[in-house]
Amino acid sequence: MRRLRIGLIGAGTIAQSAHLPAIQRLADELELVAIADVRAGVAADAARRFGAEAWYVDYRELIARPDIDLVDICTPEFLHGEQAIAAAEAGKHVLCEKPMASTLQEADAMIAAARRNGVKLMIGHSRRFTRRYQEVARLIRDGVIGEVRLVRENERRPRAMYGGLELPVSHWAPEGERPWLASAAYSQGAALTNAVHETDLARWFIGQEAVSVYAAARVTEPGGEVPDFLTYVITFASGALAAAEIVNQLPNGYPYYHMLEVVGSDGVIRAADPPMSPLEVWRPDGMTYPLNFGHLLHVDDAYLEELAAFARCVREDGELPLDPWDARQALALSIAIVQSSQTGQPVTLASIEPEGRELEGA
Ligand SMILES: NC(=O)c1ccc[n+]([C@@H]2O[C@H](COP(=O)([O-])OP(=O)(O)OC[C@H]3O[C@@H](n4cnc5c(N)ncnc54)[C@H](O)[C@@H]3O)[C@@H](O)[C@H]2O)c1
Repeated sequence: MRRLRIGLIGAGTIAQSAHLPAIQRLADELELVAIADVRAGVAADAARRFGAEAWYVDYRELIARPDIDLVDICTPEFLHGEQAIAAAEAGKHVLCEKPMASTLQEADAMIAAARRNGVKLMIGHSRRFTRRYQEVARLIRDGVIGEVRLVRENERRPRAMYGGLELPVSHWAPEGERPWLASAAYSQGAALTNAVHETDLARWFIGQEAVSVYAAARVTEPGGEVPDFLTYVITFASGALAAAEIVNQLPNGYPYYHMLEVVGSDGVIRAADPPMSPLEVWRPDGMTYPLNFGHLLHVDDAYLEELAAFARCVREDGELPLDPWDARQALALSIAIVQSSQTGQPVTLASIEPEGRELEGA
């Protein structure tokens, strides 16, 4: 079996902590050929450490290589549209980090470019490939808790999220500026960085499109530019609700965790990162732990599963493991959260659709 030849764009935090190690672990199936990063030192160092034969500062040189089958995009989201479209136009299959893009227009253009060029496009919503959440989806699908009425999520992050991992790389900071994630010029804060995970899970578990969003956000960090504290309520077509709180600026050492409750007509599923119990199902006859995932954290295996599933789909010309439409709709919810938190008013999903587009699937 010929290995798929892969090029990675943006060798920063998520690339070095998750994507590049996953590519290494999939060495029987994938061959890392080249890395591109605007920071020459980062590109060169990552190429050396992860065994790529070439590195570039200009990502266009990477996608111009005829020997690359698949491009993995790990840059900040304001670049996803441009880079994913360029890669698709060059005939490459594209795996692109979440959030899909910064705007719905870009997301739609990415889907159109993939279709036009006959390539696969998948957005790396890593939680879709996390066994704990896959198990939650299965329990719901099997009717174990009846009709889903509420999905409630909490996400907590310490300030130095990646501090303990001792990564050889810092977040990209445009010249003379703060890191892009903390800069209003490049990021919209917790709604796109974090809540796009929560909105995607809620939409997956409720199994419908959302109708409207009401959100509030705050910049709590002194001198901060983008919201680091966020809460929202989403109403779905059936009347089901999704609510979440995201708090990004907790003291260092506070555990990073995601906690989830799915309240159904016949029971409740609770799932959380350690130190809480990983997965519980509560029904009238009592509580069960259907699976014990121990200390499985999504940063370890979900990226491997995601990459392996996408590579399989490319190789076999199979069905996409995750339709880009799902990522597009998670992005729509996050954009609605931004608008609602800025205006203080509820925002309908229909009102944020690009002009001339019907809200009815890809
Ligand atoms: N799936 C997840 O759970 C998850 C987790 C973390 C980050 N992410 C996503 O991954 C993306 C990257 O985040 P990060 O935390 O790794 O950021 P980062 O700043 O650490 O890494 C981004 C890299 O892109 C490079 N870059 C910037 N402009 C470039 C350009 N024009 N061409 C090539 N390279 C360029 C930077 O030098 C940097 O090395 C974001 O979209 C983020 O939301 C996803």
